Amino acid sequence: MLRRVLLAASASDRVRRVISSAPVTRNVVARFVAGDTSDDALAVTRRLLDDGLLVTLDYLGEDAVDPQRAAAVTDEYVRLLGALAAAGLSGGGRAEASVKPTAVGLDLAEHGEKRARENIARICAAAREAGTTVTLDMEENSRVEPTLRILGQLRPEFPDLGCVVQSYLRRGPQDCRALAVAGSRVRLCKGAYNAAPGVAFTSRAEVDRSYARCLRVLLAGPGYPMLATHDPRLIRIAAASGRPAGSFEYQMLYGIRPQEQLRLAGGGARVRVYVPYGSDWYGYLVRRLAERPANLLFFLRSLASRG
Ligand code: FDA
Repeated sequence: MLRRVLLAASASDRVRRVISSAPVTRNVVARFVAGDTSDDALAVTRRLLDDGLLVTLDYLGEDAVDPQRAAAVTDEYVRLLGALAAAGLSGGGRAEASVKPTAVGLDLAEHGEKRARENIARICAAAREAGTTVTLDMEENSRVEPTLRILGQLRPEFPDLGCVVQSYLRRGPQDCRALAVAGSRVRLCKGAYNAAPGVAFTSRAEVDRSYARCLRVLLAGPGYPMLATHDPRLIRIAAASGRPAGSFEYQMLYGIRPQEQLRLAGGGARVRVYVPYGSDWYGYLVRRLAERPANLLFFLRSLASRG
């Protein structure tokens, strides 16, 4: 309930101004975001790779409002992938890119889907050049169908283009069955957005049960499952599945359960850390606060004490 209210309130310009301008916000942002620039992202990537982890990089920014902004975000990804390759960090898919379709034009009034597809194709080409891959993040429910269409249109040329299934959507298990084909990279997460009860499970228990169902479908299939969760119970289910360690990976967010990331990697599992960077961190921060009442309480207390 708190999560739904917070996500809804965060759309207000006033709430955005208060949160973005509070001095304490910077400290909270630093826990979850690598920094403002691609140099910051590269430094964090190098450190995580040295620790035996894999990385996926997200240039923060969603809902590009004009074609120029969508093109600028695309250019940034292309530059980033070139810089990763030059630094020797991307080969073999060690560091890859995560892209939000709305950040590269999906919601533009004119030919949004076409522009997003063209921009994503440019990023995929740069990733291939750098010896790595791209995964399409999944956003609100209204973006699921267009995102899957883009995936279907680009996969013939870029078979390693990854996608995301959100288990809070009732369609999750069905999407997993459709996507669990040979070579298909599928990230499974619970889902970080608000969605109507008609299309989504609303209780934690239902979302978790759906995750377990989806996980079993993906782990039984010939694709490459990417299990994005910090949930100890779901990680135990995956670990007990008997699937060979190199044939799937765990994924976790930068700044969340870092010791568990190292523990899993130390035991021979592939573990990828999702590392966001850039100055447009507002939406990302709100979703992280909404996931966990303890984060939100800590943040509100800090806001009040700096008053
Ligand atoms: P859950 O929220 O139940 O948390 C389980 C435990 O993990 C908690 O008890 C706590 O210990 C820890 N934890 C979780 N979140 C925390 C936080 N914010 N701070 C501190 N501890 C926390 N969503 C989406 O809609 N589209 C997407 O494309 C993606 N992509 C994505 C990539 C990767 C790599 C990850 C890990 C997650 C996503 N997500 C996402 C977000 C995802 O949907 C979900 O909101 C979060 O991962 C939290 O869900 P958990 O599975 O961790 O479970």
